[in-house]
Amino acid sequence: MKSEREQQLIEQAYAEIEKYQDLVNRDWYRLRYHLMPPVGLMNDPNGLIDWNGTYHVFYQWMPFCTSHGAKFWGHYTSPDLVHWQAAPIALAPSEWYDKNGCYSGSAVDHEGKLVLFYTGNVKDEQGNRQTYQCLAASEDGFHFTKKGVVITLPDGYTAHFRDPKVWRKDDQWYMIVGAQSESGDGKAVLFRSTDLFHWEHLGPIAGGNSNWLGPFGYMWECPDVFPLDGQDVLIVCPQGLKPDGMRYQNVYQSGYFVGRLDYERNEFLHGPFEELDRGFEFYAPQTMLDRHGRRILIGWMGVPDQDEDRQPTVRHRWVHALTLPRELRLVDGKLRQTPVRELKQLRKQKVAYRNVAMVNELRSWPGIEGDAIELRLDNIELFGSMLEIHLRHAARLVYNGDEGVLTLERKSFVNGLTEKRQCRLPRLRSLHLFLDTSSLELFVNDGEETFTARFFPHPDDRTILFGTHGHLHMDIEKWEL
Ligand code: FRU
Repeated sequence: MKSEREQQLIEQAYAEIEKYQDLVNRDWYRLRYHLMPPVGLMNDPNGLIDWNGTYHVFYQWMPFCTSHGAKFWGHYTSPDLVHWQAAPIALAPSEWYDKNGCYSGSAVDHEGKLVLFYTGNVKDEQGNRQTYQCLAASEDGFHFTKKGVVITLPDGYTAHFRDPKVWRKDDQWYMIVGAQSESGDGKAVLFRSTDLFHWEHLGPIAGGNSNWLGPFGYMWECPDVFPLDGQDVLIVCPQGLKPDGMRYQNVYQSGYFVGRLDYERNEFLHGPFEELDRGFEFYAPQTMLDRHGRRILIGWMGVPDQDEDRQPTVRHRWVHALTLPRELRLVDGKLRQTPVRELKQLRKQKVAYRNVAMVNELRSWPGIEGDAIELRLDNIELFGSMLEIHLRHAARLVYNGDEGVLTLERKSFVNGLTEKRQCRLPRLRSLHLFLDTSSLELFVNDGEETFTARFFPHPDDRTILFGTHGHLHMDIEKWEL
């Protein structure tokens, strides 16, 4: 059951969808096969769960404008991670403990109920922040009843304390929360419970200025911990890292540590921080374990405070989207991300060229073009210094074989100038690219690296050009999606 206030807010949000539906749908930058908000601003994916045969994805949602504020939880479901349906709005910021936002969180199954954990964000008249970790539950997976606050702020932290991710291990529940210590370090803080309502504060398992890590940002958002291929992985989004060569180029970062979570000693012993994605728009990912035992990740195709109000879709009253679902594996101590195999269902007409040879030229290949396509380049052999791919005259991929550097360039939507993101890549074997009207997701060498970004070509421009310096051999496959 929802309170009257929550009902009211939900009705206002539906009215907003209706009011702007035409304007939103007229935007040629609407995506065709990604999750987007029906109106307003979408940010973090929340509450990812494969529950009773249905995949659930909730998301941070501001229905009333295209900037941040008192967030709702929007909701989509899917039988197969490919075909999605809008579900009823799950949570609205209606109560004293969440009135300024039902912030990010997660979902678990408990005794047949779908249970959500989220952060109640509260601001008083002076603008001071308060934070509460809250619980809401549903019998059917669609209608949620708030049960109130289960954790208040422990000593030693500022009110930047949020984004609970809950999981079960043996016969206990654990929760990891993103935090800022009073000394100004980002931390990931662990709690334990037997009943989901009473939580014991165990303390930070990792953070800046602990576990041999020096200063590492002033806040860690959206932590996630899970076992994978014999090790444990901690994903976090640190805020406050300075750009460092090719690394940390976005306003805030998203990455992971590989190691072992010692539940007895409450420590996560880990190796170095690795960025999850090298593109312009990627943040606040969350993972779930699915029916096939796969660890699946979905991220937000956006970054907070990164020229969000300049995104071209804002004039159509919506902004941002979620990434495709990606399967995670751990290979040689590094995360590998590949698009889930179910996405092959999207494939329509195919055009393919086997063992193509190119020498010092820039050209197109008949049929290799489009605005919503999947493109695979396999068995790449470059006997030369450079391979480039122009995407609809609005983005360009460049592999410099001499330097071993892969670059994504795009035309900035802020000032029209070329901007870039890069990573080191000693060898290029394959490129797997999903273009969707105004987004691109690139999987390099079967997911060793990924680049995620929005880009805004002219809608009629479907051109894809391939260029080389020196000799190049490869196989090309392309599907309309
Ligand atoms: C990350 C984040 C979370 C917070 C949510 C609010 O993008 O800032 O830390 O819970 O967004 O929408």
